Amino acid sequence: MQTFYVWTIGCQMNFADSWRLEEELRRLGYLEATQAEQADLVVLNTCVVRQNAEDKCIGRLTSLKGWKERHPERMLAVMGCFVGDVDALQKSYPFVDLFIRPSEYMELIHYLCDHDLLPVDRTALPAQVPVSMHVPISYGCDHHCTYCIVRIRRGRERSRPPAEIVGEITGLVERGVREVTLLGQNVDSYGRDLSPAVSLGDLLHAVHEIAGLARIRFLTSHPADMADSTIQAVASLPRVCPHFELPIQAGDDTILKRMGRGYTVAQYRALIARIRSLFPERDGLPGCSIATDVIVGFPGESEAQYEATYRLLQELRFDAVHVAAYSVRPGTPAALLPDDVPPVEKERRRRAIDDLQAQIVGEINARFVGQTVEILVEERHKGRWQGRTVTNKPVFFDDNGTDWRGRLARVRISWSGPWSMIGQVVDE
Ligand code: SAM
Ligand code: F3S
Repeated sequence: MQTFYVWTIGCQMNFADSWRLEEELRRLGYLEATQAEQADLVVLNTCVVRQNAEDKCIGRLTSLKGWKERHPERMLAVMGCFVGDVDALQKSYPFVDLFIRPSEYMELIHYLCDHDLLPVDRTALPAQVPVSMHVPISYGCDHHCTYCIVRIRRGRERSRPPAEIVGEITGLVERGVREVTLLGQNVDSYGRDLSPAVSLGDLLHAVHEIAGLARIRFLTSHPADMADSTIQAVASLPRVCPHFELPIQAGDDTILKRMGRGYTVAQYRALIARIRSLFPERDGLPGCSIATDVIVGFPGESEAQYEATYRLLQELRFDAVHVAAYSVRPGTPAALLPDDVPPVEKERRRRAIDDLQAQIVGEINARFVGQTVEILVEERHKGRWQGRTVTNKPVFFDDNGTDWRGRLARVRISWSGPWSMIGQVVDE
């Protein structure tokens, strides 16, 4: 029996691609190995969004050099955003059999077929599907954020037709999936490249029709592209979760302009106000949740400009802030600017925002104590059931007697912290 091992780091898109690739390999008769070194086929699904991610990929790749030299008959493939200039990569890493561009995992399947490398025993062993799955709706990105290498590696935006997405989700629901997250670098421009053009709002309506699907989420949004029809679709469709991932990146207009983001702080603030106006508080709890991304230490970011970001986060009180220190990505326009904020200072800014956010979300979550929320139970984690609220808050509860996997549970919250909550089931 032939075995495979897929190593994945990076964004949800990479994890979604890896899951699909693993499904294809299982269908062809491959079995999953527990360690790369024991597998007949190893795939590294890579990320280069920041230097530390790229370093991890290079480390993993280099660690497999000896293994590959000892077992030349085994296969090593590299996919994901590490794969830029394939000729240069082949020269630097001659022991790699195949480089595959991000999301193009079917290339590997075709390669295996063309080279007669498929397992002889084709008994497919389908894996259990998770309760919640990510489904790509578009690939690539048409924005020009000056710090971003992802758009360069992933190319122009390509949307999948709605019928294909609905067909895939229907199949997943038949296998037990209860929640999907529609995925794209910029879901708000979904469907503009299709003929006839469709919108994210249209797609949400179509997916909402699928019987048996309990919840629908989507990410990532772009503040310059979010249509009011999307916000209204979320407000009017009960199974679409009122959770928004809206990266702001910086709280200063000059920095936003240099980042090429295409909106001002005032426009962003107005968008948040609009969203919050459509999701008023209910029973003392927020009607929606909003998460954001921030980069600190972008070239030329002064102390005052960083403080403007800090104050904006204090004012807007997000449910989550994914904060990263700026990392120079060769080949991007920002790489031509001097990387002039020292690493120690970038780290100070990053930590200060992390600390601020822990305090804010701690306060937001404290309001849940004593309240009852509905969660979709995903899995058992360290002896407890775990699920999320519609607003994407992780909730844990104890129940050794019932199998809650995939079910909706009403849980009364008895403890909250910044990153999770604990409660007891009140009824189903
Ligand atoms: N499409 C999303 C958007 O509208 O911003 C984000 C996609 S990006 C691949 C994911 C996150 O990584 C970004 O939101 C940004 O905060 C961070 N990021 C991207 N490039 C970066 C860089 N050069 N240095 C630090 N963080 C970076
Ligand atoms: Fe990158 Fe900006 Fe697109 S962060 S993926 S160019 S929206």
